[in-house]
Amino acid sequence: MSPSTQTSPLQAEQDACAEAETNPELYQHFANLVSSLPSSEGLSHNQFYRHDQGWHTGLVVMVGAMVADACFTARPSDIVVATLPKSGTTWIKSLLYATVHRREHHPAAADHPLTSLGPHGCIKFFEYQIYTRNKVPDLDKLPDPRLFSTHVPSVSLPRTIATSGSKIVYVCRDPKDHLISQWDFAKKFRVMNQLEPFSVEAAAELFCRGLSPFGPYWDHVLGSRWSPPDPTLFFRYEEMHKDPAAHVRRLAEFVGHPFGTGEEEDAAVDAIVRLCSFEHMSGLEVTKTGKTDLVVGAVENSSFFQRGVVGDWANHLSPETARHIDAITAAKFMRSGLPVLS
Ligand code: A3P
Repeated sequence: MSPSTQTSPLQAEQDACAEAETNPELYQHFANLVSSLPSSEGLSHNQFYRHDQGWHTGLVVMVGAMVADACFTARPSDIVVATLPKSGTTWIKSLLYATVHRREHHPAAADHPLTSLGPHGCIKFFEYQIYTRNKVPDLDKLPDPRLFSTHVPSVSLPRTIATSGSKIVYVCRDPKDHLISQWDFAKKFRVMNQLEPFSVEAAAELFCRGLSPFGPYWDHVLGSRWSPPDPTLFFRYEEMHKDPAAHVRRLAEFVGHPFGTGEEEDAAVDAIVRLCSFEHMSGLEVTKTGKTDLVVGAVENSSFFQRGVVGDWANHLSPETARHIDAITAAKFMRSGLPVLS
């Protein structure tokens, strides 16, 4: 559990932000670099830029990831949520925050930070929220354990994460549901930016060519497998749906604060599951009316909650397209031990 400090983790972060420093030269240096990279239209509304192992969505986001790599100093106690967008990031952030901070913030408390700040206010993205040109908090001032998140593939993670022994929580989702969720999400932004929304088949075609945010999907998932000692806890969105309580217990064990046995502990696990459930989180005022400031603009919190189900792809993709995606997945994951979902 986080050490008892007089300043809460959230207050510490706000204090750190107040002393923010910017380094305009570094941002400009990386912006110049990214501008020179190959780029393409992708599944979203932003131009995609090609890095070593895939596509980043948007110049400012890629610059943020590069600044994070250059500036972030990881600690062994850090825990980083690493996910592709639309894979269950919002859910795992909630579960992780609620689990790690369960002693200071009872999961059933009406004033739980998740209910006022939302998951993306409690655990921030390196590239969208922390390493932006406007304000970079002094992360050294944050108490342990620091919780962060990122969408970048493992090859682009801030390098001190690998050397420090920080922990990584990865969530993987069936590529077909991931695609449909991304297509739906991107549609709103394409319309807002006066761009024609993609048909689902056109989106699937781009996806299969790897042109999805932080894609190719398959490289991102395969990149989550590190050679031993692997610092990663690997979850599947579909399995989380089947038994969220078991995942909360595994998460707690992974972060070094396991739940015990007995009714009281079972009740605490259940309270975390309830707090973080789609039904509860999507009904909160912070979700219905709040926005999250990202480097790409303010995003309505409600857009992180669409349907929250497994298998919605069957309502949108033709059987032929679904088979095509499954065939790519089977070929790519052949020797990885990762199963293909269908
Ligand atoms: P759908 O678009 O299929 O509904 P991310 O958080 O990585 O952007 O992923 C968003 C997806 O996770 C969306 O899927 C969203 O509805 C779903 N989601 C968000 N919060 C959830 C929760 N608490 N439980 C289950 N799914 C959730």
